[in-house]
Amino acid sequence: MSVSFRDQVAIVTGAGGGLGRAHALMLAAHGAAVVINDFGGARDGSGGSTEAAEAVVREITGAGGRAIADGGNVTSEADMEAMVARTLSAFGRVDVLVNNAGILRDKTFAKMTTDDFRAVVEVHLMGTAIATRAVWATMREQNYGRVLVTSSTSGAYGNFGQSNYGAAKMAVLGLMNTLHLEGAKYGIHVNAILPTAATRMTGDMMSGEMLELLAPELVSPAAVWLVSREAPSRTALLAGAGTVARLAVVESQGVCFTGKSFTPDDVGANFDRIADISDPVEPPEGLRHVDRILANARAALGRN
Ligand code: NAI
Repeated sequence: MSVSFRDQVAIVTGAGGGLGRAHALMLAAHGAAVVINDFGGARDGSGGSTEAAEAVVREITGAGGRAIADGGNVTSEADMEAMVARTLSAFGRVDVLVNNAGILRDKTFAKMTTDDFRAVVEVHLMGTAIATRAVWATMREQNYGRVLVTSSTSGAYGNFGQSNYGAAKMAVLGLMNTLHLEGAKYGIHVNAILPTAATRMTGDMMSGEMLELLAPELVSPAAVWLVSREAPSRTALLAGAGTVARLAVVESQGVCFTGKSFTPDDVGANFDRIADISDPVEPPEGLRHVDRILANARAALGRN
């Protein structure tokens, strides 16, 4: 069955440009009524105007689609509640939330102020939590929902000068893990996209060829599939330049010291085996880790 958002309503935050605009256009092209949220600020989060969001609405409605603009700030609970109220009064439901809004305040950790750290965490982590909370009750009541968080390789792997951004981007994966568990019985699936694209956010870090190969439109098929009826849950996809891959968090088999000598020196002496990821375990859910280490300990104690 091909992906369709017929009769569905999607909200995309930060959709006035870049990746959010590309996701919104693709959702609309696949039949969704779309709410284009964007507070219209500068890359560092200052300022604001709804013009960018309204321009994307005109693109969608001009092509025969349905869309409205919303100038709310994702860090404001009142704005996000008003956005969802506006969505429900315009379109009657909300099936999809794409958390995409973001800012940058890059500096090395030594030079970064606490305000720069807080501002980035506020938009990426708290903005995602606040926007998601605003749709959560509606999705639970209708027994259906798709939520996407936008993470980054800067979080998963680190990036020089982005301690604030990387921390916030890894945090949204933690949010995904638990919302997946809490949303499951209400038909709510929660996934993550880790994009790489040439946008206002990254354009000045890229060469001419990179700008060409890293079109935002090449991220949207993965993002849009992750919020479709067919979407899995608790799945993080990396997407950019036409490659889509899955990010997995795995554990090494590890070494069980139960019943043996177990000092810091024992950890050091066994570090190569502890760190060996050649036979990885991918715990489907957090509690499985507890099951596994308790099983190791019971086996070592002969308590099977
Ligand atoms: P962008 O700067 O073109 O778009 C971000 C949009 O979010 C802007 O239109 C901005 O006005 C809006 N926004 C910022 N703060 C907001 C707030 N408080 N409330 C409402 N809207 C707000 O950047 P881009 O590249 O399209 O980024 C989209 C998302 O993808 C961000 O979360 C970013 O961190 C993430 N990302 C982008 C990567 C890339 O290679 N471009 C790499 C990894 C992640």
